[in-house]
Amino acid sequence: MLTHNELLTALPDCLDSAELPAHFGQKISGKVRDIYLYDDHRILITTDRISAFDRVLGLVPYKGQVLNQLSAWWFEQTSDIARNHVIAVPDPNVTIAAEAQPLPLEIVVRGYITGVTTTSLWYLYKNGDRQPYGIALPEGLQKNDPLPQPIITPTTKALSGHDEIITVDAIVASGLVSAEMWSEISATALAVFKRGQEVAARGGLILVDTKYEMGLIDGQLTLIDEVHTPDSSRYWLADSYDERRQPVNFSKEFMRKWYADQGYRGEGEPPVMPDDLRAQIAARYIATYEKLTGSDFVPGIQPAQTRIAQALQQAAF
Ligand SMILES: Nc1ncnc2c1ncn2[C@@H]1O[C@H](COP(=O)(O)OP(=O)(O)OP(=O)(O)O)[C@@H](O)[C@H]1O
Ligand SMILES: [Mg+2]
Repeated sequence: MLTHNELLTALPDCLDSAELPAHFGQKISGKVRDIYLYDDHRILITTDRISAFDRVLGLVPYKGQVLNQLSAWWFEQTSDIARNHVIAVPDPNVTIAAEAQPLPLEIVVRGYITGVTTTSLWYLYKNGDRQPYGIALPEGLQKNDPLPQPIITPTTKALSGHDEIITVDAIVASGLVSAEMWSEISATALAVFKRGQEVAARGGLILVDTKYEMGLIDGQLTLIDEVHTPDSSRYWLADSYDERRQPVNFSKEFMRKWYADQGYRGEGEPPVMPDDLRAQIAARYIATYEKLTGSDFVPGIQPAQTRIAQALQQAAF
């Protein structure tokens, strides 16, 4: 585990964006990944950008490497259950993926009732909704309680703006996907989530909830994007989960809390992240990687930009 001082020293080398030589074509930038579409492949370069409140808030050392390597690891851990898009991982920050026809859905699976945003289960339940997302929930649940069984709460992947809640009935009725396709999607999501919870438990973590993206590759349902990363999932420290229901968070909730403490709720110009916080967030991402995989995190050669460009020049695909 890197020390706080080592993480502070790494701050100037953070990967803000990644540029590839011209023949890789035009770069597309998501909030976190820089993407090149090349020869039926999607080159996903995970940067050190961190986002919340639907915007990029700053840079966290080694975050891109942690996310990329952890996602690759989880794709392997679940490959007997679900096909995935990974073709190669030629660099700590890079995945070469098969380009999919993405489904216009975010498939959120939740094992616990929690959250603070207006689409979170706890927010809806606390405000009296006993059938959030069309799913009947029992009376008497407390914040952070486990659900009777994991549930799927899909949202539509909006082309602009915020994702919107959609019920399973509406997904099928609107023709977004067929009833058969939905049963394959939900069975896959629940099976991958179950595996995720089992594997996380071995590392002393609780996989609380997560978001999957799926698409079609050669007509086959395939897991795409990222899987069970601390960006797409909520993790709690298992040891800290008891009847008081105030578990230690190992995901972005830690950063969101700092913003909330500054009085920031996502409106207007966000406060600048102090260096100490950036290093603390890095420590959590790295700790999550180490707990889950059971291996030490080994930082790639810095700065990452030069290394990435070289790795992709040499990658045969
Ligand atoms: N195999 C794939 N085929 C097609 N699209 C993919 C594949 N894997 C990931 N994607 C898409 O690539 C993008 C990854 O970039 P990133 O996660 O940074 O975007 P984002 O800020 O989350 O934006 P978005 O809201 O569009 O997901 C996402 O839009 C994701 O849906
Ligand atoms: Mg994304």
